[in-house]
Amino acid sequence: MLTEIAILLASVGILAILFIKYKYGYWKRRNVPYLEPTFPTGNNTSFFPKGVAVGKVTQYFYNEFKARGLKIGGVFLGIDPNLVLLDPEDVRTILIKDFNSFVDRGIYMTKTDPMTVHMITQQGSEWRNARVKYTSVFSSAKMKMMYDTMKQCFTNMIPTLDDSAERKLDVDVFETMACFTTDSVGATILGVECNSFKDPDAEFRRLGRHFFEQFSPIDRTRLFMTVYFPDLSKKLGITNVQKEVSKQYIKLIKDTVEYREKHNVSRKDFLDMLIKLKNSGEQLDMDEIIGQTFVFFTAGFETSATTSTMTLFELAENQEAQDRLREEVIRTFEENNNDLTYESLMGMKYLGQAVDETLRKWPPVTTFPRVCVQDYKFPGSDLIVEKGTKVLIPVLGLHRDPDYYPDPEKWNPDRFGDRNPKLPYFPFGDGPRNCIGSRYAIMQIKIALANILRNYRVLPSPLTEQPLEIDPDTFVIRTIQRVYLKFEKIH
Ligand code: HEM
Repeated sequence: MLTEIAILLASVGILAILFIKYKYGYWKRRNVPYLEPTFPTGNNTSFFPKGVAVGKVTQYFYNEFKARGLKIGGVFLGIDPNLVLLDPEDVRTILIKDFNSFVDRGIYMTKTDPMTVHMITQQGSEWRNARVKYTSVFSSAKMKMMYDTMKQCFTNMIPTLDDSAERKLDVDVFETMACFTTDSVGATILGVECNSFKDPDAEFRRLGRHFFEQFSPIDRTRLFMTVYFPDLSKKLGITNVQKEVSKQYIKLIKDTVEYREKHNVSRKDFLDMLIKLKNSGEQLDMDEIIGQTFVFFTAGFETSATTSTMTLFELAENQEAQDRLREEVIRTFEENNNDLTYESLMGMKYLGQAVDETLRKWPPVTTFPRVCVQDYKFPGSDLIVEKGTKVLIPVLGLHRDPDYYPDPEKWNPDRFGDRNPKLPYFPFGDGPRNCIGSRYAIMQIKIALANILRNYRVLPSPLTEQPLEIDPDTFVIRTIQRVYLKFEKIH
C-alpha cells in the first residue's frame, strides 16, 4: 500500500513538474526573448506581497529587455506568460487603435465579494456598460459642481499645518495629504463627513489605511492565492479585500444609502447621482454601488495623496521651483479677488507642469495590464499574441528611461513646458479604458498644492531618510521611507 501511495505521489509530482516546465517553455516555443522564471512566482520577486507587487519589478523587466535592444520581451507572473511592451508606439497601438483586442485587465475579482467587482476589474460588456454609466458623473461640469466642496475640505488641513508650523514640527506629509483626500472623496463622492483631521482614528481614514497598509498572514495568503492561482481562488470564492475592511465599508455605505432614501436627503455628491440612477430603473443595485464607490474611494484618495506628497517633497528640494510656483499661485489669487475659481486653478501653467512632472517621476500606478481578448498579430512582426495572454505596460520603466527623459531621476517641471507628444507618458493610462477619475484627481491635487504654497514655505526635514526608494511590495507607488517636511507659515 505504502509503495502504491509513493508511486502515486511521485507520478503526480512528475506530472506537475512537466506541466510547469511546459508552461515555462511558452515564450521559447513562440520565439520571444524572455527572462528565465522560477516556480512559483515566475519572474516576480515578491513571494508574499502586500499588494500585487508588479511596479518595481516591471521597471526591472523593462531595463533588462532594453539593455538587449528589444522592443518586446516575455516574462512569467506565477506560471502565466506576460508580454512586456517597450516601444511607446506599440503601447499606444494596443491601448488606443487596437483596443478592441485588449479590452480587459485580467485583475482578480470574485462575484462572491461585491467589493472586488468594479470598473477596474470588470470585463467585456459589463465594463462597457459601467463605463458608459459613470462617464457623465466625471464630466467637467460635475467636477465644477464638486469644486467648492473639495476646496472647503482643504480648510480642515489649516489648523494642523498652522500648529506644526508654529511648533516647528516635522509633518508626516503623506498622512496629512491622505487626511485631506479622504475628507474630499468622502464629501464629494460618498457624501459623508470623514473628519480625518479632527479624529486621528476617524472611520474612513482608518479603513483607507487598513486597505493599503495592514495585511495579516491570512490576508497575505489570500493575496498570494488570488495573484498566483486566480482560477482556483475564484472557484473557492477567495477575496483579496481584507474581511474587516469589507464588513465596515459595506455597513457604512448601506447605512448612508438607506438613511438618504428614508429621509429623502438629496446632496450635490456622487452617491446622490448613484441613488438617482438606482431609483430611475437603471440597472444598478446595492452591490454595484458598494463595488464602484469602493474603488472611487480607494483610487480617489491614495493616488492623489501620493502625488501631492511627492510634489511637495520635490518642491522642498527645489526652492527655486517652489518660489516660481508660489509667484504664479499668488498672482492668480490676486487676479481673482483673493479667491481661486475652478478655471483659474486649472489655468495655472507652471502648477500643471509641476504635477505632470511628479506623475512622470513618481507614477502612482507603476504598471497596468491588458488581456488579449482575441488572437492578435503583433504590428511589424510575425508574432501572434494568443487570446488570454496578458500584456504589461511598464509605466515606471518608460517614465524613467534616460533616452526619453534625460537625467530621469531629476524632477524638472520644465520638461513639460513644451513636451513632445511622442514621448511615453502614461500616468493615467490611455485609450477608452484610461483613468476615469483623472480630472477629479488633478483638481484635488491642485487644490491642495495651490493652497499650501500660498500659505506655507515647504522645507526639507532631517527625519526623511534619503534617497527615497520605491517600495517593491505595494501595488501603488509608495516610498519605503516616510516623507517628512517642515512647513513655515508665510505672513
Ligand atoms: C493621481 C491620481 C490617479 C492616477 C495616477 C490614476 C491612474 C490610473 C491608471 C494608470 C489607470 C489604468 C488606466 C488604463 O488601464 O489605461 C486608472 C484606472 C482607473 N482609475 Fe485612476 N488614477 C488616479 C486617480 C483616480 C481617481 C481620483 C479615481 C476616482 C475617483 C480613479 C478611478 C479609476 C477607475 C475607476 C479606473 C478604471 C477605469 C476603467 O477601467 O474604465 N482614479 N487610474
